[in-house]
Amino acid sequence: MKEAMLAAPLGDDVFGEDPTVNALEEKVAALLAMEAALFVPSGTMGNLICVLNHSRMRGSEVLVGHLSHIHLWEQGGVSQLGGVHPRTLKNLPDGTFDLREMRQLVRGENVHWPVTSLVCIENTHNMVGGKVLPLTWLDQLGSACRELGLPIHMDGARLFNAAAALQVPASRIVRDCASVSVCLSKGLGAPIGSVVAGSKDFIYGAKRLRKVLGGGMRQSGVLAAAGIYALDHVVPTLPRDHAYVQDIARAITQCGGVIVRCDPSGAHTNILVLECDPEVVTPMRICQRMAEVTDEEEAALGERVIVRMLSLTDTAIRLVVHCDLTHDDIQSLIKKFQYVIKEFESQSGR
Ligand SMILES: Cc1ncc(COP(=O)(O)O)c(C=O)c1O
Repeated sequence: MKEAMLAAPLGDDVFGEDPTVNALEEKVAALLAMEAALFVPSGTMGNLICVLNHSRMRGSEVLVGHLSHIHLWEQGGVSQLGGVHPRTLKNLPDGTFDLREMRQLVRGENVHWPVTSLVCIENTHNMVGGKVLPLTWLDQLGSACRELGLPIHMDGARLFNAAAALQVPASRIVRDCASVSVCLSKGLGAPIGSVVAGSKDFIYGAKRLRKVLGGGMRQSGVLAAAGIYALDHVVPTLPRDHAYVQDIARAITQCGGVIVRCDPSGAHTNILVLECDPEVVTPMRICQRMAEVTDEEEAALGERVIVRMLSLTDTAIRLVVHCDLTHDDIQSLIKKFQYVIKEFESQSGR
């Protein structure tokens, strides 16, 4: 990837003259069967640009899942910076929402109400553990939104994980979406960058918004080259990451579930959510312990292994597998987890 970055032909992308950025944008547009695409610095900016682009009228309201990244983790940017009102739909455990609830929340014509401009979905869904939205549900959502005259934006930060899990082209998954934002960083290993895709007109508006948000970049082909590399060389390896998550999930399940529990069948992709009972040990404490190495542990395991995970909620930990991990790394992680679980079990007397 670094060699590809060094070798990238460059130009000024604010003037549309960076051949590597242009190649990345064309590649993503083709992969998603969309007319055009735009390279942006981050997933957060990609989502913000898309929501604002769909919500040009003041008083616009967007429907978002209550567990969506747009709603929980992006500083409320759509309202903070764009004056767009978010209305939440209750995310179900599989990352979808009830389409009847959605129909009820779409605003009719009333002088007191905002105007519904957009429905946002997330695929894979981060907060429910990297789950893949079912294609049948996406199809039903697509026909409901067509009937209601509402566009759909997909936060596809991990869209290629969804495509790998479903074994379908990414374009099939976004078929009914007016816009999509995909991340090249995350599990794909690029140091930076996301791409938004949609119609030519939509991408023209997105380009204007990117500029005003400070996301217009100059010789950014050096970054786009990493994205092209990720799409060509890392995307094909995603099934391996998913298999690693299954290995970890099975090993943790075999530990008995007193300290941490997980559901291997609910882990569709490269994310594993581990549940714990904070009365026994908190997610934060487990994450801290997995990130440190004790002398006794090193003596017992014969290696120093640091595992960095995220304490997601009061009861849950998020573990993500990325493209640089090897089979041996995963075996080391499993041994360490088994060791740490036993350690907590003996401390808690369970
Ligand atoms: C589902 C989802 N969307 C968007 C983002 C934002 O991406 P970025 O960190 O590049 O702003 C993330 C980041 O983790 C994410 O998980």
